[in-house]
Amino acid sequence: MLDDVLAKVYADIAPHIGEGRVANYIPALARIDPSKFGMAIATVDGELHVIGDAHEPFSIQSVSKVFTLTLALGRVGEGLWKRVGREPSGTPFNSIIQLENERGIPRNPFINAGAIVVADVLLSGHQPKETLGEILQFVRQIADDDEIAIDRDVARSEQETGFRNAALANYMHAFSNIENPVEKTLGVYFHQCALSMSCAQLAKAGLFLANGGRLAGRGPSVVSAERARRINALMLTCGHYDASGDFAFRVGLPGKSGVGGGILVSVPGKASVAVWSPGLNENGNSATGTRALESFARHTGWSIF
Ligand code: DON
Repeated sequence: MLDDVLAKVYADIAPHIGEGRVANYIPALARIDPSKFGMAIATVDGELHVIGDAHEPFSIQSVSKVFTLTLALGRVGEGLWKRVGREPSGTPFNSIIQLENERGIPRNPFINAGAIVVADVLLSGHQPKETLGEILQFVRQIADDDEIAIDRDVARSEQETGFRNAALANYMHAFSNIENPVEKTLGVYFHQCALSMSCAQLAKAGLFLANGGRLAGRGPSVVSAERARRINALMLTCGHYDASGDFAFRVGLPGKSGVGGGILVSVPGKASVAVWSPGLNENGNSATGTRALESFARHTGWSIF
């Protein structure tokens, strides 16, 4: 049934492949072929269904924020919410505007400012190399794939041009909400964003969110069922920045996007879905990827509503 769904989704989106604009503020991403399209579904029973370029690695960018949030909650528990909020921001992913009135506490862990705080939490007591090793090991473990790597060219490209992120980190440092040297925290953040994964790897890595915190079937627990539910809630309300409401309206499932054109969606109790199409809409979310997920939700009838 899911192979048929993927074929129908592909037929629906085929005329739209290549739409949107590839992220060009990170030079290494501006070179990506906009006609790529891949999609993968990992079910809670352990099946994997794919279509298109589903095995080709791409830069997961902000989708990584789901994995670092999971790790940071594991590290410091609910204390994390003293340093980052859990409300939608209604502003673009790289906005600085709310930080001034809100004492350097970012609205949520998925906007850039929030994810930089999460990186800072993970860095505390470690060197950037160790923290990145921990992130990489975690993602490889939950995806059951040792091939996953960080694309150093993408990380360098962002390090050279990430002036907005540097501004966010310095500003939060002034409010004592970045505790490590800013360049070290940013180093972790830029490298986590440069994780390179395929749709198939991403769908598998996100499965614990759809499966009550467990790997496929009755596999080992990654987080408690309660924590998985809460991460899903944050994905629904904040995962697409100022377009989170639009994504919930069109797709009706918790999702997290990245400027590499990837989106990870969780269908609680059923499956984890990853889609990749590099062209972005005006909010920095994959244009055709969102369209594909809208079609997927319609053909399966899967929704949390
Ligand atoms: O920090 C940045 O701007 C990028 N590394 C990540 C932004 C991103 O993926 C926003 N997603 N839609």
